[in-house]
Amino acid sequence: MEKIPNKSHVLVLPYPAQGHINPMVQFSKRLTSRGVKVTLVTTNSVSKNMPKESGSFKIESINPHDDDDDSPPPEKLDESIVWFFNLVSKNLGAIVEKLSDSEYPVKALVFDSVFTWAIDLAHQLGLKGAAFFTQSCSLSAIYYHMDPEKSEIPLDGSDVSLPSLPLLEKEDLPSFIYESDLYPTLSGFIFGQNINFKKADWLFFNTFDALEKEVIDWIRARYPIKIIGPTIPSMYLDKRLKDDKEYGLSLFKPNSETCMKWLDSRETGSVVYVSFGSLASLGEQQMEELAWGLMMSDCYFLWVVRATEQNKLPEEFMSKAKEKGLIVNWCPQLDVLSHRAVGCFFTHCGWNSTLEAHSLGVPMVAMPQWSDQPTNAKFIRDVWQTGLRVKAGENGVVNRDEIASSIREVMEDEKGVMLKENAIKWKKLAKEAVDEGGSSDKNIEEFLSNL
Ligand code: UDX
Repeated sequence: MEKIPNKSHVLVLPYPAQGHINPMVQFSKRLTSRGVKVTLVTTNSVSKNMPKESGSFKIESINPHDDDDDSPPPEKLDESIVWFFNLVSKNLGAIVEKLSDSEYPVKALVFDSVFTWAIDLAHQLGLKGAAFFTQSCSLSAIYYHMDPEKSEIPLDGSDVSLPSLPLLEKEDLPSFIYESDLYPTLSGFIFGQNINFKKADWLFFNTFDALEKEVIDWIRARYPIKIIGPTIPSMYLDKRLKDDKEYGLSLFKPNSETCMKWLDSRETGSVVYVSFGSLASLGEQQMEELAWGLMMSDCYFLWVVRATEQNKLPEEFMSKAKEKGLIVNWCPQLDVLSHRAVGCFFTHCGWNSTLEAHSLGVPMVAMPQWSDQPTNAKFIRDVWQTGLRVKAGENGVVNRDEIASSIREVMEDEKGVMLKENAIKWKKLAKEAVDEGGSSDKNIEEFLSNL
């Protein structure tokens, strides 16, 4: 059925990191495909390599307009989040004024849920506010139960039993619970996300109903959440949107041609794809174990090692790696995961990577590092049953034998066949959710009709 164009204008404010930008840009595309104008508000350092406009999707810099400073945010997470808050609170009002247009009035601000200050700012500017959670619903439920007034999470390392969630051991909980003193400001924002449940006009979650049914039902009985994921470009799921690739927003330059050519020359299901996302940094010893573990698995591997991590690769390994592997600084992950040659994803379990693997039907070996990743790994292994999880030794390092045997189990054993079948099952359900009339699709429609 032909949809009536919705003449609204929505501002979208992601946390300026790859794992937060991706889902919010993809969500923006779903809005523009229904005729809504979207302006992504971000820093010069993020927007500098992007076309400023693509159809009804625009990028506006939050840096003052007489300031073409494209210096990146401070490296320390805590400093960067304060830096960003100062920029936004100083400049967002002027941006809203500049973009005001009687034909397409600015109606709402969709902001990253960790910006606990954004809902008040939106309301002060006369806009509705939608918190966008770039993590799983289960994670949000855990943070919800951490509210000091409820304090349902014992911090003595004992198992944690929470409504609608599986029993969680210490190793399954988000790292911030035990490491909040390492990033006091960021942790404050992470735990403070709960404020959105009380104040925001909409609550968006990048997940899909079938994947987290129990916890979604539990939260939904209390708050009017909207499940709108997975925000994977539709062309990977159902080929509905043809222009998706035009405005992905990558902060790293992918070695696309090299990766795809190399994959094309491999047999179906013969390659392990290895990536730790945009932020995680492995210790040197861990990097060495991973390198030799990949070699020992005797499988072909495509390993993303960001430029800043390359110096940790052992020399001897580098001279041998060419026989079996391709190492790149960054790759087009969705193209890689949907390539027939990829048989397994060795992953840090960032939420986007987790959703992408499920949506594209790829079984995993989980090696979580920090933040929400341990919880995602727990679900991958025990709830969705789409992957194995490696175990670290007493020194905190996962050794090469463990790495090699886990990979072989997924690539070669019967267990791997079962994991793959499960992954394909989730793939179908992900597609159903975003297909026209699917649960996530309907929620986006409903949001737009209420704008
Ligand atoms: C972080 C957190 O880890 C994540 O759990 C949180 O919810 C969002 O922020 P990050 O660590 O970068 O993100 O991992 P992930 O969430 O997996 O996001 C990485 C994104 O970069 C994915 O969309 C992935 O497709 C993309 N990517 C990664 C590439 O396009 N190419 C690469 O080579 C590697």
